[in-house]
Amino acid sequence: MQKKITIDYQEYNYDSITDLDLKELIDATIQFADNAYAPYSKFHVGAGLRLNTGKIVKGANMENASYPVSICAERNLLSHTVSNYPNQKITMLVVYVDKDLKVPVPPCGLCRQTLVEVEIRQNHPIQLIMVAKNGTIITLKSCKDLLPWSFDGSFLD
Ligand code: THU
Repeated sequence: MQKKITIDYQEYNYDSITDLDLKELIDATIQFADNAYAPYSKFHVGAGLRLNTGKIVKGANMENASYPVSICAERNLLSHTVSNYPNQKITMLVVYVDKDLKVPVPPCGLCRQTLVEVEIRQNHPIQLIMVAKNGTIITLKSCKDLLPWSFDGSFLD
């Protein structure tokens, strides 16, 4: 039997945003990309999220001369958030790359796996908002949509 997985996503432009809370989170994330430590790739990534309390938490990528030691902005932010706010839920997460690209940059495979783990743990979807420097924005309602058919802890029970 032939089966298919489909993904829903939205695409719009920064200029059309009317939700001021979303704009605030995006603006904070864009600014935070300046805090990236990326002397090797020069690829400055900012990640920002909102907790259910309304608080904004930010992170950036941090590289290392031993390249594999580097960590992406998303996982840096998630590690910080999960350990500092263990009882709060992440409602949305923004990713921004400070580079002139035509399309927004999606999280890498390791970050997708981490995002799905956090979603399952908090039993609440995380809306993902990927923002390009030219203003193009792509949004997914849940990070699970980025990693269909994922491996998770249920297989280990
Ligand atoms: N990077 C991120 O921080 N997030 C992504 O979604 C993609 C890649 C970082 C890792 C590394 O510091 C640099 O970007 C180039 O791969």
